Amino acid sequence: FRRCYHPKVIDHYENPRNVGTLNKSNPAVGTGLVGAPACGDVMKLQIQVDDKTGKITDVKFKTFGCGSAIASSSYMSERVLGLSLDEAEKIQNTEIARELSLPPVKLHCSMLAEDAIQSAIRDYQKKRGTLQ
Ligand code: FES
Repeated sequence: FRRCYHPKVIDHYENPRNVGTLNKSNPAVGTGLVGAPACGDVMKLQIQVDDKTGKITDVKFKTFGCGSAIASSSYMSERVLGLSLDEAEKIQNTEIARELSLPPVKLHCSMLAEDAIQSAIRDYQKKRGTLQ
């Protein structure tokens, strides 16, 4: 594992940030649950949004997947904290892959993190009745 992964992946894998669960029934919490058809790995990413500022104030994730998927979700959780939904929505898996130096075969793992944040944002907007 160590030999094939970039140190940043190993760091996130061994010390994942923001692992856990937020209360789904809280109206300020959006939950994204996505799976990768290629490998069956699953990622849950939750955001808590401040109604007044529209900024993400808390993020938690749980990933059942490979080291790259765990590192991607950990990276994403740090990256979106404090951002507005518009800003968070724009984060692409290519950024994660670049930051973590993921090889091409692991691109779909970073795609999971992009799908998960999009799905969490949509869930929040649906709850708030602001989904366009
Ligand atoms: Fe599928 Fe990484 S191997 S998420």
